[in-house]
Amino acid sequence: MYIVYFLSSWILQLCFIHSTHFRGGTITWRPLNATPVGGSASFLVRERYSWNRNTYYCDDTTIANKGLISGGNDVACTAGPCTGWSNMLTSTYCTDFSDRLTVSSGERTQVYTFPLNISFTIYFYDGNWFNGLEVGNSTTWYVSNRVITNVRPDGYLNTSPIGVTIPIIYKPINIPQVHVVQMADFDGTDILRCRWSTRISANNTCHYNECGGICSGVPGAVLLENNCTIVFTLTHAKLYAGVALQIEDFFNKAALTANTPMSSVPLQFLFYGYSVTGNCTKPPQIIGNRPNRACIGTSNSTFVTETIVVETYCPGQYVADFVSSSPIGMRKSAIINASSTIFQMILTWNVSNTLHGPEPLCAAAVDNFQLQSNQWCVTFVVGYDSPDVIRPTLVQGSASPVGTVFQNQSVFSFQTTKFVGRPSRNGTNIYFKDAANNVTVAQFDCGWAPEVTFTGYTTVIRFTTTPWQAGHFYYITMDGGVVSGTEFCGPESAPIRDPTYWVFNIWDPAVSSTTTTTTTPFTTATVTTKPTSTTSINTLLTTSGIVVTTTTPITTPPTTSTTTPPTTAAPTTAGPTTPGVTTESTVAVMYPKDFKDACKSSVATMTAVILAALAPIHTIVMYATLTKLEKMFSPSRVNAGTRHKLRTKRIMRS
Ligand SMILES: *[C@@H]1O[C@H](CO)[C@@H](O)[C@H](O)[C@H]1NC(C)=O
Ligand SMILES: *[C@@H]1O[C@H](CO)[C@@H](O)[C@H](O)[C@H]1NC(C)=O
Ligand SMILES: *[C@@H]1O[C@H](CO)[C@@H](O)[C@H](O)[C@H]1NC(C)=O
Ligand SMILES: *[C@@H]1O[C@H](CO)[C@@H](O)[C@H](O)[C@H]1NC(C)=O
Ligand SMILES: *[C@@H]1O[C@H](CO)[C@@H](O)[C@H](O)[C@H]1NC(C)=O
Ligand SMILES: *[C@@H]1O[C@H](CO)[C@@H](O)[C@H](O)[C@H]1NC(C)=O
Ligand SMILES: *[C@@H]1O[C@H](CO)[C@@H](O)[C@H](O)[C@H]1NC(C)=O
Ligand SMILES: *[C@@H]1O[C@H](CO)[C@@H](O)[C@H](O)[C@H]1NC(C)=O
Ligand SMILES: *[C@@H]1O[C@H](CO)[C@@H](O)[C@H](O)[C@H]1NC(C)=O
Ligand SMILES: *[C@@H]1O[C@H](CO)[C@@H](O)[C@H](O)[C@H]1NC(C)=O
Ligand SMILES: *[C@@H]1O[C@H](CO)[C@@H](O)[C@H](O)[C@H]1NC(C)=O
Repeated sequence: MYIVYFLSSWILQLCFIHSTHFRGGTITWRPLNATPVGGSASFLVRERYSWNRNTYYCDDTTIANKGLISGGNDVACTAGPCTGWSNMLTSTYCTDFSDRLTVSSGERTQVYTFPLNISFTIYFYDGNWFNGLEVGNSTTWYVSNRVITNVRPDGYLNTSPIGVTIPIIYKPINIPQVHVVQMADFDGTDILRCRWSTRISANNTCHYNECGGICSGVPGAVLLENNCTIVFTLTHAKLYAGVALQIEDFFNKAALTANTPMSSVPLQFLFYGYSVTGNCTKPPQIIGNRPNRACIGTSNSTFVTETIVVETYCPGQYVADFVSSSPIGMRKSAIINASSTIFQMILTWNVSNTLHGPEPLCAAAVDNFQLQSNQWCVTFVVGYDSPDVIRPTLVQGSASPVGTVFQNQSVFSFQTTKFVGRPSRNGTNIYFKDAANNVTVAQFDCGWAPEVTFTGYTTVIRFTTTPWQAGHFYYITMDGGVVSGTEFCGPESAPIRDPTYWVFNIWDPAVSSTTTTTTTPFTTATVTTKPTSTTSINTLLTTSGIVVTTTTPITTPPTTSTTTPPTTAAPTTAGPTTPGVTTESTVAVMYPKDFKDACKSSVATMTAVILAALAPIHTIVMYATLTKLEKMFSPSRVNAGTRHKLRTKRIMRS
């Protein structure tokens, strides 16, 4: 009896293992300390897999008890000196499950010590993929990662990128789809690329099979490698399509051209086709509470609470389930019916026991019609307060106003080259200081102050009453984290303490009225723009339209000012990429004398004149600001040390 039971359970198990249980996964790694010391270093290897929940059951109790969901063969090493590697178990601690999608997911990490300057491939191989795939029914799976422990050209050890996804993504059939896979890298300056995984080992980074039976698993799909965007159309309802990608990070453009990545990270997941039928065709949407792709700096001693807010659009449509991919230890509440069309789920996470580093979270809602919402992903950067994490640099745009402003100037703004939002914590201040005595005359906490408005690329500060004194000079400084990136994973902006970074002074009518009036017209100067420049901010220029009056020495202006055109950095690039074309243009340039002159005219004349001159001046100030910033931040200019400071700047991109 016992033997029969034993045999049948063994056969059953075999059946499962060789039938329907794998649903994709990923393997990533990073050094525990990016500064190389001696001939070897400790690396954290992280694996994450999803399974058929009928095979590897998981529920809230399993997660709370840190229960394991079983895997298959151990992760093994090949194609290199495997010094330091010992096989890694593939049973993982369950972190997520979805009843409707019949999926369980889990994660495991392990610390290894590897010698420096070696490369090898670690892979998870077993079988079989299930029946029900467009390509690859009952074939074996391979999930392969290239570990490279070389010291980077900037002197640090590399961290592999990460790919972020939920395990199964529903898409309606016969409708062209664009799906963006999020790539993230702790080394903010790296160039990321994703490519289809390939089976032929002779030609790929892993020197090994990277995708088993699901290579080219989405028929007809096109991949945009620079931003990991998949364009495809599913044609069969109730069939899955396996996606096997490798995400690779490159030190710079030359390395990208030479195809010499610093790591190769697998990301495998499934699309599921459904036909749009029935009374409800509009899937639910995740609408709050943080934007998709937000990046949340998290101290390792905090307790995180996040709310996912979902809206439904059809009568009788309600959120029946969530599918997610979350860090170990994150707890999910039951679904809350906030109203008949708004549903919520609360996530809580005690970060205390989590190692420093990025921890991605992805979720989507599934409704009672089996429609799936958009995918929503955020990344927690655990330990942003740690000296290990180098914070990104904030402003790569320009600030306004600069120069001389009226005493009633109440609106200040600065631009960023990335889409930013309100930071997630309090204590992130912008200070307005009087240059005469360094006294803070105003400060706003960007974490909550209603005076600070985030409009995406421009952040605006509005005073209800202005504290300025005529004739005084002021400067603005900022704490780290006054803005937080959303589409890139900039956990926080870097602090700005330089008192010359953003300077303005208040027009003093008393002083101005004592100067004599002249009628000299505005000077017209030729501005030659060049790709590089040594121009620094000319504080004699003003963006406010107010004349410069006294205190600043009036120097004879050069007839040619050399500036750099503002390169509009695409959200996916770390800095200006195309060198500006040298152009010549003639613009009206106002010099302090002109301002004084203008000031003596009637207010009406002055306004018109100043308005006419304002635009080009603003442009010049922006050029100058950008030039200064470009000098500070351009990847081609910064040395290795500065470069490292930028490393975490942009972790995530679309
Ligand atoms: C690793 O390679 C770098 C660059 O070639 C070299 O400077 C360093 O000494 C090497 N380290 C070890 C432990 O071999
Ligand atoms: C894979 O299996 C499913 C379900 O058995 C079937 O519908 C599909 O046609 C198969 N795909 C291929 C390429 O044979
Ligand atoms: C390897 O890649 C090269 C260039 O990309 C290509 O020409 C060649 O056919 C590939 N070899 C194999 C075996 O795929
Ligand atoms: C991805 O990059 C391509 C160009 O390579 C661009 O046309 C497309 O808009 C980008 N997609 C996203 C979602 O950024
Ligand atoms: C669809 O709508 C029709 C008419 O409003 C109704 O009779 C039917 O029961 C609905 N079907 C479902 C599945 O809700
Ligand atoms: C939420 O609403 C759905 C449908 O209206 C219902 O089935 C479910 O029981 C409700 N849940 C709670 C906790 O009230
Ligand atoms: C988080 O975990 C730590 C360590 O286990 C514990 O000391 C702390 O009380 C926990 N915090 C909360 C809010 O549960
Ligand atoms: C949390 O941060 C503190 C201070 O930075 C550090 O001493 C501690 O080791 C960290 N804990 C973990 C689990 O990383
Ligand atoms: C600020 O003061 C100037 C001159 O005193 C005046 O022209 C302008 O209208 C004022 N602006 C506001 C918003 O009050
Ligand atoms: C931030 O400060 C404001 C005002 O004191 C307070 O209402 C808010 O709850 C604080 N937020 C956090 C996250 O502490
Ligand atoms: C104000 O701070 C700057 C920079 O920190 C310093 O150079 C200057 O001496 C300070 N001025 C006064 C009056 O303390």
